[in-house]
Amino acid sequence: HIDRLLPELVVQVHIIKINLSLHNCYAVCISETLDSKDLKIFKVSANGQVVQFALGTKHKFKGSPLEITLPFELSRGQHVIVEIEYETSPSATALQWLTPKQTAGKKHPYLFSQCQAIHCRTMVPCQDTPSVKHTYYAQVSVPRELVALMSALHDGQEPDPSDSNRVIYRFRQPVRSIIVLRIKEYVDEAAFEFSETETMLKTAESLAGPYVWGQYDLLVLPPSFPCGGMENPCLTFVTPTVLAGDRSLAGVIAHEISHSWTGNLVTNRTWEHSWLNEGHTVYIERMIARCMESEQLRQFEGIGGWKELQESVKEFGPNNVLTNLVTNLHEVDTDEAFSFVPYEKGFALLYHLEELMGGPEVFMGFVKSYIQLFAYGSVTTEEWKNYLFTYFKDKVDILNKVDWNGWMHTPGMPPVKPQYDTTMADACTALCQRWVKAKEEDLASFTEADVKKLNSPQLIEFVALLLQEEPLPLSHVKKMQEVYQLNSVKNTEVRFRWLRICVRAHWEEAVPLALKMATEQGRMKFTRPLFREVYNFSKYSDEAVKTFKEHRAALHPVTAMLVAKDLKIDG
Ligand code: BES
Ligand code: ZN
Repeated sequence: HIDRLLPELVVQVHIIKINLSLHNCYAVCISETLDSKDLKIFKVSANGQVVQFALGTKHKFKGSPLEITLPFELSRGQHVIVEIEYETSPSATALQWLTPKQTAGKKHPYLFSQCQAIHCRTMVPCQDTPSVKHTYYAQVSVPRELVALMSALHDGQEPDPSDSNRVIYRFRQPVRSIIVLRIKEYVDEAAFEFSETETMLKTAESLAGPYVWGQYDLLVLPPSFPCGGMENPCLTFVTPTVLAGDRSLAGVIAHEISHSWTGNLVTNRTWEHSWLNEGHTVYIERMIARCMESEQLRQFEGIGGWKELQESVKEFGPNNVLTNLVTNLHEVDTDEAFSFVPYEKGFALLYHLEELMGGPEVFMGFVKSYIQLFAYGSVTTEEWKNYLFTYFKDKVDILNKVDWNGWMHTPGMPPVKPQYDTTMADACTALCQRWVKAKEEDLASFTEADVKKLNSPQLIEFVALLLQEEPLPLSHVKKMQEVYQLNSVKNTEVRFRWLRICVRAHWEEAVPLALKMATEQGRMKFTRPLFREVYNFSKYSDEAVKTFKEHRAALHPVTAMLVAKDLKIDG
């Protein structure tokens, strides 16, 4: 039951029935432990019989183990239906409840979930690990005027027999979540850009094998959605911030589609191996770019990715073990550990291996075979590596020369920098260097024509390159605005970098614009750096803190937690 009472966030009683059976390695079992966080458990029964349960000590981010005592010894081959009656908390970190005022339509409240990596336990008591996959059947009762969607196939709907003002939506996920309401406002705006999705799916299938999830839907979320995209099975979530600029949507969709194979079909065993999900996904995403656009575009994206990796390494510090490809997350909050390292160090490793093993076709052959072998299961880095050596059994000599420890278990930049074709990147680097080297008297040489020659991804790369340099003098940045009019560029990838460049140059007028962008949308990739940038401009640190505190209640819980940490606010 999802209630619409807002902002009190009254969540009604949920009932979950879990069909438990024994993992192979155990002979018998007398209890079952599930993950839970901030759940109120009312009653647990097993095969209809009320049983004892206990909630263990609460861990700061892991929550409390829910230990259920089974009424009999469960032995191998047997199964038991465990039924749990519970209630979620208003502070559930998987959920963001939006008031009608916080939505584009202003009429209805909106609720969405974001469970990766370990927030599902605030919504459902479960074995909250990527190593456990299950099918599910769900019935969701919502007020009649709202719509429920889930990461599953639709299985009909009917009036709620217990309340004529409500509707029950049914879902089934037959392959081993997420409740959302539609935003009509964005549909038209996005329709054209979404038209490429079909071709992308076909391209991905030709690369990685059949799409097994039946349906593929895209849902544009409200601006506060913390991610760029999220690969919920059957139903990818995307941020509305990609709708303003050409090509940004295509990149996100190509990425999330790729997760249908690497992430959802073949899954990292634990989040310490998340590079298996994200690295392979970026690899396939860029193979889609290669097939649908050009090899040069893939190379250009590789260059951009390497720069993103440099930024992450700089931010975390080159000796920080969280910049290892394979991390150790013992007592580490996965939200705080998030970075582009698993994406871009992962991609760089795969691209490096591609070069060693004989090029894109050869290496994609391995990736496809890896997917088909481990489909429906979960993998560790060790298992991936063993299969790599098996698949390329004729090239083991070359593989043995790879500095595996350097790539996988050492912090900082990788031991080898792959070679990329710079055809598309050259124009960006040249223009960036012209600005960096320009003296006051050279400023007159810049004209609107400089950026007219760049396409959208190149303009993004240009501002990204500037951001890697020492802060530009204020006079330069003002001149840049005068000739390029970057303040009016709608593409959010350009805008968030441009505003950071301005704030870094201490252009005071950019401060309110940066804070506006940081709060008008809540994609963490934009919001966190924007807040940090203003905070680092010491004259405006207090302003950043004040703005954050004013908006805190309306922010997504995870975003709020991380920005508070970035701005060194306690509690
Ligand atoms: N699965 C991730 C999002 C995610 C990662 C959620 C870790 C929670 C924890 C998704 O596929 C993703 O990587 N999204 C990117 C966009 C993508 C185009 C690189 C993002 O959100 O920025
Ligand atoms: Zn991803």
